[in-house]
Amino acid sequence: MAATRQAFARFVREQEVCGDRPEANRARGGNGRGLPGDDTQTLLKTIFVVDPLARHQTDLARALGAQYRVKTFSDTVTAKAAAKADLPSLIMVAESAPPDGGLAAIQHLKATLGNRAIGFIGMTRDPASFFAESCRREKIPFLVKPVSNHALFDLITKSISQPIEDRWATLGDNERRALVQTVELFRALPDQILSGEPVQYDHIKDSCGPLVTAVCNNKLSDVLSGVKGHDNYTYVHSFRIAVFLSHFGHELGLRDDDLLTLSTGGLIHDLGKVAIPHQVLNKPGKLTDDEWTIMKTHVDRGLEVIDCIEDVPRGVVTIAAQHHEKMDGTGYPRGLKAAELNELARMSAIVDVFGALTDERIYKPPHPPDKALAIMRDMGPNHLDQHLLGLFREMLLDTASYLADV
Ligand SMILES: [Fe+2]
Ligand SMILES: [Fe+2]
Repeated sequence: MAATRQAFARFVREQEVCGDRPEANRARGGNGRGLPGDDTQTLLKTIFVVDPLARHQTDLARALGAQYRVKTFSDTVTAKAAAKADLPSLIMVAESAPPDGGLAAIQHLKATLGNRAIGFIGMTRDPASFFAESCRREKIPFLVKPVSNHALFDLITKSISQPIEDRWATLGDNERRALVQTVELFRALPDQILSGEPVQYDHIKDSCGPLVTAVCNNKLSDVLSGVKGHDNYTYVHSFRIAVFLSHFGHELGLRDDDLLTLSTGGLIHDLGKVAIPHQVLNKPGKLTDDEWTIMKTHVDRGLEVIDCIEDVPRGVVTIAAQHHEKMDGTGYPRGLKAAELNELARMSAIVDVFGALTDERIYKPPHPPDKALAIMRDMGPNHLDQHLLGLFREMLLDTASYLADV
């Protein structure tokens, strides 16, 4: 177990030393990624950087440019004027931002831009500075340079997602808990495992309880809308898979612990993506063969994590291990064939493909559910179990009115 944990830790740490991928590799298409033409830019979230030092502006633009649309400004006044015309998802403000410093800049921009869903991050070199102290007091996230790529992207994702999570307060009590408890679990689990802290399956099960209740109460639309715009793609994808898989099981007549197996399995099925370098996981263009090989390792990395969870049901392992297998044996990682894939594995594959097609990613807009189902039908029996796909389709048509917008 300790060796597994160390191996997983090594994969996570390796993310931090990955450099930026060369511009030449940003070809479109393949691996289900890319758009015809050059529309990817329009799908990227916008980040404003307000920093008087040109070198700092360039460094951040270079680090973030592949995954966000970065606009740089030397002072707050220009940034404020630009924000009115082109609303950013996040504004990063240096401690020394003119004319009155970073704290005044953030307060001014917050007041000017009102209730818009914008995140803010302060930037300093001194964790003990007055600016850093003020950020702590005002609960403004801030980074201390130099910062690792991993920490930088982590903070950016959290800050962009914060206004989205703030809106959960307006949901019904159970739906709010379904979102809050799953995102908290999702954030805590990798660190908990890396630190050697025991993880009980019961804790994961408890965290997914409200999600299952929301599914049983036909509150799918509320919880699925809740993750729209959230910047942690792996969480959003996993949450959606948990909801669709539970809904599928519920419609097939499963109850109680079986539904919890589906929801927990869905939520942690891609946990191994924590170990995939950010630059590969969120690459807007086509993956190279080497990157694709790395991406496929997320299944085994995830199983290493799940191995550390005490009393985890076999069904959860099946979902994590076999959601990329195909009926004709051309899937990964084991190349299992139909006779070796039970119904749970086949359901997971269907829901994972549906989730991926209807997810919004930086390299593609979401497909509407009916288009996704047509694509899945065309994949044929070599890829997906057509009988189960038919049942899944019927289930979605029954719920089409409240899935139309999610
Ligand atoms: Fe996966
Ligand atoms: Fe997945």
